[in-house]
Amino acid sequence: EKGGYDYFMLKEIAEQPKAVADTLLGRIDASGLLTLDEVRIPATVLREVDKIVIVACGTAFHAGMIAKYAIEHWTRIPCEVELASEFRYRDPILAPRTLVVAISQSGETMDTLMALRHAREQGSKVLAICNTNGSTIPRESDAVLYTHAGPEVAVASTKAFLTQVVACYLVALYLGQVRGTKWGDEILAVIRELSQISRQVEQVLETMEPVRELARSLKDKNTVLFLGRHVGYPVALEGALKLKELAYMHAEGFAAGELKHGPIALIEEDLPVVVVVPSPRGRSVLHDKIVSNIQEIRARGARTIVIAEEGDESVVPYADHLVRVPQTPTLLQPLVATVPLQVFACELATARGNEVDQPRNLAKSVTVE
Ligand code: F6R
Repeated sequence: EKGGYDYFMLKEIAEQPKAVADTLLGRIDASGLLTLDEVRIPATVLREVDKIVIVACGTAFHAGMIAKYAIEHWTRIPCEVELASEFRYRDPILAPRTLVVAISQSGETMDTLMALRHAREQGSKVLAICNTNGSTIPRESDAVLYTHAGPEVAVASTKAFLTQVVACYLVALYLGQVRGTKWGDEILAVIRELSQISRQVEQVLETMEPVRELARSLKDKNTVLFLGRHVGYPVALEGALKLKELAYMHAEGFAAGELKHGPIALIEEDLPVVVVVPSPRGRSVLHDKIVSNIQEIRARGARTIVIAEEGDESVVPYADHLVRVPQTPTLLQPLVATVPLQVFACELATARGNEVDQPRNLAKSVTVE
């Protein structure tokens, strides 16, 4: 049942191109527009939405963080993203024109379920993004957009995460399309780019041997840090979470801009720091800022592991290890940049003799608050 792989996690990492393609399948029509009929919330209601609140836990929360950048950019609707466990207990402001998006692979996470129940009691509409047909969260929501990742068995979420990001983007683009924003042309272009992503994830998977080798060489380290900006920030958090849960190592993700507000004090000789570099094309200011962050940490002795787009030569002088990902628009980069981090964590866990599919102390779905 592991299809020739040693672990479900490896199988599920390898299935990501298909999971992404399946999540797009049937949702884009011949003219390049989205047809999300399954989102049963009528367009009239969606046009009235004046706030979006995303609730989720763990990896699904990281997908939600990425979604916020896309939703606010493409729809101009204010979007908050909050850990479901925090949201429920702080008396959040919810109204009938608030759209709550609950993201959950299992559809059974108790904190997320309690958050959506609370939102519905306040009269808000809830859209679930879920991977498990007929599970509790979609059953209790007003509408559901299923991720078509297929069953995810390994405790550490991989293919579900990528498809959650894709589904969030579909929701963002759909809202943009229904409401008609000034980004109409960009939305069409992004839908086209999204169709390329599956192939690009495949390309990343084909070039992972050096990442595995690097992971093995770090097996006796105690700490790994991850830095990113913009959508690279949640990618950094996700890379750190994977490493914690699988390799049982101290791993932390930071927004690169926060470095000088504290975390840079952690940098010491030979400390591995993974940096997610956004595309130098498009908003190049983001890119240039992170390149100077890499210089800063390297000057203080960090061992830099740089994830950067093919053709980005500016990072070469400062990268002790360079991991290339295909060229994508900045907002889509998490779909390719997360993959090496999954492989990295999986290989480190293996090298440390850990049980990859069943990390200690963790359960696949957390059905207690
Ligand atoms: C991490 C992981 C967890 C889940 C979280 C939410 O690899 O798998 O952090 O993402 O427990 O689970 P779901 O998505 O089922 O609500």
